[in-house]
Amino acid sequence: MKLLILSCLLAGCLAQEPRPCSSPPLLTGALTMSTQKESLWVYAKYLYDAMGQRIRLMELGTYENKTFSYDVLLLYREATMYEIHRHNRTCNKMPLKGDFQPMGIPKDASLLGQVVLGSSSEPGEGLLVNTWTGDLPEKAGKFMSTVTEFGCIPVSTLFHTDRFGWMVFSYFDNVIGILDPQDLNPPPYCQHAEMKAGDKEPVDFFSLFNNKH
Ligand SMILES: *[C@@H]1O[C@H](CO)[C@@H](O)[C@H](O)[C@H]1NC(C)=O
Ligand SMILES: *[C@@H]1O[C@H](CO)[C@@H](O)[C@H](O)[C@H]1NC(C)=O
Repeated sequence: MKLLILSCLLAGCLAQEPRPCSSPPLLTGALTMSTQKESLWVYAKYLYDAMGQRIRLMELGTYENKTFSYDVLLLYREATMYEIHRHNRTCNKMPLKGDFQPMGIPKDASLLGQVVLGSSSEPGEGLLVNTWTGDLPEKAGKFMSTVTEFGCIPVSTLFHTDRFGWMVFSYFDNVIGILDPQDLNPPPYCQHAEMKAGDKEPVDFFSLFNNKH
């Protein structure tokens, strides 16, 4: 009995156990990303379309104290990535490796806990979130993801891979839906870009942030 009361105090008798969840299939927002092994910091606007398996990232970053901008469109169904140079209206087209990973919490993840970010003292001061851990596909490493209890909106994700060390993503200003649908299609001036396979390995999502700049 004592044990039951204690566990009620700790976990809240009425609270429902959080469950793995899928984020909304269409999202637009912003994120920051930084890496452990390289002095890289990135701010990006993102568009995310889980139905079409498309992601656009418009990045501004600093790498070793130098700023850069980088704009990519990832089309997983076509296993193709476009680097878009808006300033001179040119594109590089290259092969994209790996499966599309939907945002959210995979079914085999383990719950670390539920917490309130900010404060629970006043309405509007806090955000109820759940944090989960698990393995990346193909045992590439581990992740720790925090999503909102209501809506399964991404808050932050830490990835750890041997190749890159820690990578930390924080999401904010997310809205459900795609604000600018044409940003998920290659711009007209990309239509004639030729696939650059060459000596380069196909890029995957992680290397996108790590070996480019
Ligand atoms: C970046 O700038 C800081 C401060 O000016 C300096 O200490 C550091 O060595 C610089 N790093 C690189 C990689 O240039
Ligand atoms: C366009 O800009 C990109 C990135 O700055 C550069 O790599 C590329 O060579 C440029 N293309 C032309 C045709 O100027």
